[in-house]
Amino acid sequence: MAESGTTRRALLGTALASPWLGGLTGVVAGWPRDLLARPELAIPERPSQALDVFQLKAVARQVLDQPTWHFVQNGADDGKTMHANRTAFDAWQIRARRLVDVSSTDMSLELFGDTLDNPILLAPVGNQLALHADGELASARAAGSRHVMICSTVTSYPIGEIAAAGGGPLWFQLYASPNEALMRHLIAAAESAGCRVLVLTVDSATRGNREGERWFAKQMDRSRSRLGNFEGYDGPKRIGNPAATWELVDWLRQNTQMRIVLKGIVTREDAVLSVERGADGIIVSNHGGRQEESGRGTLESLPEVLDGAGGRIPVLIDGGFRRGTDIYKALALGARAICIGRPYLWGLGAFGEDGVARTLALLRAELKRIMQLAGTPRLADIGPASLVRRGA
Ligand SMILES: Cc1cc2nc3c(=O)[nH]c(=O)nc-3n(C[C@H](O)[C@H](O)[C@H](O)COP(=O)(O)O)c2cc1C
Repeated sequence: MAESGTTRRALLGTALASPWLGGLTGVVAGWPRDLLARPELAIPERPSQALDVFQLKAVARQVLDQPTWHFVQNGADDGKTMHANRTAFDAWQIRARRLVDVSSTDMSLELFGDTLDNPILLAPVGNQLALHADGELASARAAGSRHVMICSTVTSYPIGEIAAAGGGPLWFQLYASPNEALMRHLIAAAESAGCRVLVLTVDSATRGNREGERWFAKQMDRSRSRLGNFEGYDGPKRIGNPAATWELVDWLRQNTQMRIVLKGIVTREDAVLSVERGADGIIVSNHGGRQEESGRGTLESLPEVLDGAGGRIPVLIDGGFRRGTDIYKALALGARAICIGRPYLWGLGAFGEDGVARTLALLRAELKRIMQLAGTPRLADIGPASLVRRGA
């Protein structure tokens, strides 16, 4: 990438220096010198140059092959749910308070008996080898001790290796399987890797319709596809179980000591059932708009899920978080913490471990900035009074 970015810049530089184009810019006022000055079009050559996660996305777009790019970017059907995840933030505006001492800020929080440095978690994402040779090892190293990383069932590297590489807090995400022995195998591996939280993904009764991913699937480089957690397991390896019901939560209770968090809850009814079935937490999620095309952003689902949970268990959220202000709005509405998916994949695809670290650093810095600018130096200061609905 760096090479092609450099070449592109060099070409533009040469073109601009030429008397022909120099004359042209005089004729077509404001182009292309102004174009070069627009940061949203810039392609950073080093992670430290990236000013926001969208610049890392631009690099990843250049680096990744078509199948991998579509694997990362696709939403279901027409992408309306994925889009709604982003536009939902615009329905809320921030009410900034003034003349508050914000000379020091504190983003730490308590979750499941642990103190976390900040409320930004890495959502579970499978097959990260497709994006970078170090895959989840790079993501775990970048997360370090500051961020919880939720490891997917279908990571390229086995959870034990990811735990050894990162050394920070890891949670394990489980997909339902009709094979109890397989789920036991995965749970045992997660427990021995030190995971204290199990995230059961409940939005995947079947696979969402991601057409770009399907279109390019045959071109996927199979040498960069691995299922680390299934290695050493000889039984049937079926993942996904359309017959799964709430009884699976009871089964998990009997088969692990880990806390149980349900990922993919989007309604009040299911939040109530989550509490009744003894779940320890909820992640409001629509899988990044990759499963059902509901047209509903997760931020729009959050209030009713919070209502159903009734403050009895913590509610987290993911889907479309790209800015510190997005995180701020979800926290103000009552989410305990948030998870990011694609933004750290962009960092990973663009620059490996350093790219993921840059994604996380940018989001932490942006959250800190809005906490200062809005006069809310601690997470506990952020609440309903921090927001107003657009047009209200
Ligand atoms: C490429 C990709 C792979 C994913 N794989 C998994 C997975 O294995 N398990 C899971 O529970 N969610 C998976 N997700 C969903 C994420 O955990 C998360 O819900 C979503 O990415 C959040 O939305 P965002 O990408 O807009 O931040 C995946 C998402 C992407 C983009």
